[in-house]
Amino acid sequence: MSSAFQRVRRQSAATSPRPRDYRGSSAFRVALAAGVLAAVVSWLGGQYLVEAQYREESKEIGNYLEGMGSKLSQDLVVSLDHGDLDAALGVIQTQLSRYPGANAAVLDAEGQLLVGPLSTNTWDALRSHKDLGIPGLHRGRLGDTRAVEWHGSIFGRQESLGTLALRLPVPGPVWAGALFNFTAATSLFAAVVAFLYLSSAFRGVAGLRRVLERISQGDYCERAAVVGCSEIKTLIRDTHHALDSFILAGEEAHKVYVETAIALSKTIEAKDRYTSGHSQRVAVYSIEMGNAIGLPPERVETLRLGALLHDIGKVSTPDHVLLKPGALTDEEFELMKKHPMAGDRILSAIPGLRDMADIARSHHEKWDGSGYPMGVSGDSIPLEGRIVAIADAYDALVTKRSYKPAMPVAKALAILEKDAGSHFDPDLVQVFVAMKRNGQGYKPLKKGEASMEAKTKANPQTELKAEAELPNVEPKSVDDASAQETAE
Ligand SMILES: [Fe+2]
Repeated sequence: MSSAFQRVRRQSAATSPRPRDYRGSSAFRVALAAGVLAAVVSWLGGQYLVEAQYREESKEIGNYLEGMGSKLSQDLVVSLDHGDLDAALGVIQTQLSRYPGANAAVLDAEGQLLVGPLSTNTWDALRSHKDLGIPGLHRGRLGDTRAVEWHGSIFGRQESLGTLALRLPVPGPVWAGALFNFTAATSLFAAVVAFLYLSSAFRGVAGLRRVLERISQGDYCERAAVVGCSEIKTLIRDTHHALDSFILAGEEAHKVYVETAIALSKTIEAKDRYTSGHSQRVAVYSIEMGNAIGLPPERVETLRLGALLHDIGKVSTPDHVLLKPGALTDEEFELMKKHPMAGDRILSAIPGLRDMADIARSHHEKWDGSGYPMGVSGDSIPLEGRIVAIADAYDALVTKRSYKPAMPVAKALAILEKDAGSHFDPDLVQVFVAMKRNGQGYKPLKKGEASMEAKTKANPQTELKAEAELPNVEPKSVDDASAQETAE
C-alpha cells in the first residue's frame, strides 16, 4: 500500500497541479453560440424577407393579371359565343406567349375545362391559398413554384360563357440563394463547433469514469486527461487533487503506523543494551539480500519494514523471560516461542502492515519444517521470512551479547553454510555468504588486523582457535537460541 501511494505521488506531483478555475473552453462556447444564433437569425429573418418579397411581387403581378384578364375575357366572348374553342385557345396563347411559365384555362359552371390549359395536361389547384385583397386574385404554391391566379367570368349577350383562369409564376428574390448558402454555412459551422465541443467533453467524462472505476478496484494510480469544457476540466482536476490528498493522508497514516510500531519494537530492544540496534542491522542485511536477488523496490521496502518489526511480538513476552540472563526453562522457552504469532496478530491488525505480519510470523520457521510456530518448510515459508531468518541468525552470531563475545564473520558464515538446507534456504544462504565474502557488511578492520578469512588461510588452526575461544553460552532468548542452535 505504501509503495503504491509513493508511486502515485511521484506521478501525480508532475501531472496534477492544484485545481484552478479553468476557462479554456470559453472560446468554444462563444463560437458555438454565435454559430447557432447566426443560423437561427438568418433562417427566420430570411424566411420573413423572402415572404415579404413574394407578397409584394404577387400584388404587382396580380394587378397586371387583373388588367390582362379583363381584356382577354372580352376577346374570348366571340369565340366562345360561337362555340369555337380552338379560336379561343389561339387568343389565349397569343396573349400569354410572352410569359414563360404562364398558364390559362376556361372552365364551365361546374369547373370542367372548356379551353386549355396551356402548358400542362391538368389544371391543378394552388396550395397554401392566400387572397391578395382584390376579388378574384389569390396566390399560392404549385410544387416548388409560387404563382398568382386570377379568376374572372366571361359574359356573353345572354349568359355567362364560363370562367377565365390565368396563372403567372412569381419569381423569387435574387438574394434568396445567397441567404440560403449563408444559413447553411453558419449551421455547418455551429454543427462542427458543437461536435468538437461535445467530443472533448465526452472524452473528459470518459476519462473521469475510467478513474472512478479504477478507484473502485483499489487502484489510485489512474489519471484522466484534463479535457472537456471548463466544468469537466475543473471536476477532473478536483478529482486528481482529492486523490493526491487521499494518497498523502494514506502515506502519513502509514508512516505513523510504521513509526509507532518501530518505536514499540525499539522499546523491547532497549531493555537489553546488547540487543539494541538488532532490528536495524537485520533490516540492513535483509535489504542487501533483497537487492542481491533482484526483488522489486516495493518488496524490498516491505522487507525492510518487516525486518524492523520482526520481533514486535516480544511485547507480549514477560520481562522475567525476555530479560532472563541465564538459560530458559522449557516453560519459559514455550512462552518465548509465542512471539512470532503475537507479532502476526499485532501487525495484521494495522492497515498497511499486513505484509509485514507474514515476516514476523515466519522468521523462526526452518527450511526442513522443524521451526515454529507453524512448522512449515521450504517454499511454503514466505521468501521475506526466509531472508529475515538468515539476517536474524547472522546478527545474533556476529554481535556481542552479555553472555558471549561477537563471533568472527567468517565463522558465522561457515555456520550459516553448514545449516543451509536444514535451518536456512540453501539458495539464499549462498547469496548471503557470497555477498558478505565479496566485502559487503564486514566490520571495518582495525589497523594491522588481518581478516578472519586471511587468518584462516594463513593458519588453519586460527579458526579452530577462534571457535575454541567462543564460550559455550546458554541462549537467553529465542533469537539467541536460534543463533546458538545454529552455532552448535
Ligand atoms: Fe524472533
